[in-house]
Amino acid sequence: MIEITNFIEKNRETFLGQLIEFLKFPSVSSRSEHKQDVRNCGEWLVQHIKSIGGENAYLFETEGHPVVYADFIRYPSAPTVLVYGHYDVQPVEPLELWNSDPFEPIIRNNKIFARGASDDKGQLFIHLKAFESILKTNETFPINIKFLFEGEEEAGSNHLDSFIEKNRELLSCDTVVISDTEWFDFGLPSICYALRGIAFVEIKVKGPNRDLHSGSYGGAVDNPAEVLANLISRLKDRYGRVTVPGFYDNVLELTVEEKEEFARLPFNEKLYRESLGIKQTYGENGFTVLERTWARPTLEVNGIYGGYTGEGAKTIIPSEATAKISMRLVPNQKAQEITQLFVEYIREIAPPTVSIEVFPMHGGNPVITPIDTVWMRKAKEALRNSFGVEPVFIREGGSIPICETFQRVLGASPVLIGFGLPTDNIHSPNENFSLENFFGGIKAIANYYMLLKDK
Ligand code: BES
Ligand code: MN
Ligand code: MN
Repeated sequence: MIEITNFIEKNRETFLGQLIEFLKFPSVSSRSEHKQDVRNCGEWLVQHIKSIGGENAYLFETEGHPVVYADFIRYPSAPTVLVYGHYDVQPVEPLELWNSDPFEPIIRNNKIFARGASDDKGQLFIHLKAFESILKTNETFPINIKFLFEGEEEAGSNHLDSFIEKNRELLSCDTVVISDTEWFDFGLPSICYALRGIAFVEIKVKGPNRDLHSGSYGGAVDNPAEVLANLISRLKDRYGRVTVPGFYDNVLELTVEEKEEFARLPFNEKLYRESLGIKQTYGENGFTVLERTWARPTLEVNGIYGGYTGEGAKTIIPSEATAKISMRLVPNQKAQEITQLFVEYIREIAPPTVSIEVFPMHGGNPVITPIDTVWMRKAKEALRNSFGVEPVFIREGGSIPICETFQRVLGASPVLIGFGLPTDNIHSPNENFSLENFFGGIKAIANYYMLLKDK
């Protein structure tokens, strides 16, 4: 391990320069104007993997953004690890809140600032640099490795399921490793064993065939914005419990042991509130903040629009109004079933004065993985070796839709060994990644691959 560590230390500047190149691509998957940028970024990745010794590196076409695949396979008897990550990023808006250009990475306070720095380009790159560092110092690689890098995770991974189903043989593996999650706290390496799923829908309420004068028509024509507000108000009770019938039917309850484990984590509710600028937390009765965000399903309005929102006053009844709604799901809820329940409930409570459409946008099932496996034990060991701290097992509230597909289709549970920090501002202005975690992550992942050799 010492030669590998030395190699990483010697190459800090080179690695950082390459990461900066990678971060400069505005690979925003949800925006059609960035379609070519996403592809260029994928092509750069393919070339980069080839340049560090990866083999069979290709850009695979899908009906959406392309998938990057590469591998290095030498020993039929050694374990095969599939590394997943995503090279697409979230949109950057609101741009005026960034202190520097999101696609001109800069380093301040030992952090690198750019969209995608932490989610997920920086974390994905850790694996490539660990791979390279081992290969350059050992002349071979201890295990069989396959890389699968997606270009549309942030848009819902809509085409990756069928890619995986069509390429079972190519992707067959003993375990999946993913760095796309966060540590519980600064200085506290964490392995995540469960993520929530998601069902995302758009709901559109249509009323009169044009905006109407609210004086001439107000009182006789129903108002789509008001209907929408009313529908939304009937989706949850005031304690945050979702009122869609059947929503909780398949929810797997937390075990007593899990609740105890959660309670042992260094969570400080006062600091949590202060860091968010809120007076009070909220949520389902009888659950703590960690339980509510990690292990309970929920529903949120992500955006709502319709009618006049410009400067000053304008007296109209809007012709239509729209809301974007996501539901976070926990084992054993299924994204498709929940979407169906949502649609049925809206249909049932919809007033006859307007027409309402629900468009399912994307969905992903929740995932929970065993923690008493050799893959998990070695992950813990590698983190301990690299960071000198005993890692914790945690769950997280976010979603990586493809995790459950890996489990179901490939029969391999993902090991979520992430290096993000809660202060990384993922999906927000001024996203950043700690260089300590970037370089520490490379060492930990290199160590992990070495440890898996003698599994
Ligand atoms: N890396 C995140 C998921 C994540 C965030 C896990 C924080 C744990 C902690 C991922 O890129 C993400 O943002 N996923 C989306 C999925 C959606 C767009 C389908 C999410 O959770 O909103
Ligand atoms: Mn991510
Ligand atoms: Mn993300």
